[in-house]
Amino acid sequence: MAITVRPFRSGDAPRVAEIVHRCLREVNSRDYPADIIDRMCAHFTAERFIELSRCRLVYVAVDHGSTAVGRVVGTVSRDGNRVYSMFVDPDLARRGIGRRLMQHIEALAAHDGYDHMETGASLTAHRFYLKLVYSDVRDTETEFGLNHILRKPLKP
Ligand SMILES: CC(C)(COP(=O)(O)OP(=O)(O)OC[C@H]1O[C@@H](n2cnc3c(N)ncnc32)[C@H](O)[C@@H]1OP(=O)(O)O)[C@@H](O)C(=O)NCCC(=O)NCCS
Repeated sequence: MAITVRPFRSGDAPRVAEIVHRCLREVNSRDYPADIIDRMCAHFTAERFIELSRCRLVYVAVDHGSTAVGRVVGTVSRDGNRVYSMFVDPDLARRGIGRRLMQHIEALAAHDGYDHMETGASLTAHRFYLKLVYSDVRDTETEFGLNHILRKPLKP
């Protein structure tokens, strides 16, 4: 796979929402009750991603292997040194796309002068972030259930 990461465009919104909904229904549903999954699906619409892109830096991972223009296969968002909305196409899990997205925004945050990155991980993503050498800071309860807050120091 030839993966690149670029800023989100409004035309990506339907595909991004599709990836998020598939993750929620096929992956996160193993860890969270159905009512929380339903609320998350209602929250993460294509329109919501367009709104989010006005207040956060939203990125997409694009696979250039399959089509000339490339196909969006994952997304992550950043507000300063905080990570939001990390989702990878379930068909392409465990192929390094999540790591690639995180490396991209970590480098941008380090360039902006932040000394650490902070993320709120779902139960599903907790072990992923531990693999990326994030450390547990605390647990918190959100409108979408339990969240692990983790941090990782950034090199200047
Ligand atoms: C969590 C998620 C983003 C990981 O993306 P990914 O592209 O599959 O992750 P990568 O392939 O880059 O994995 C990086 C490392 O983490 C490991 N990893 C990934 N998911 C893991 C999991 N669920 N459990 C344990 N390890 C995991 C990989 O094996 C890899 O380790 P390695 O380099 O030693 O082989 C993806 O599975 C996903 O979208 N999940 C559903 C949505 C979600 O929970 N998002 C997070 C919201 S906070």
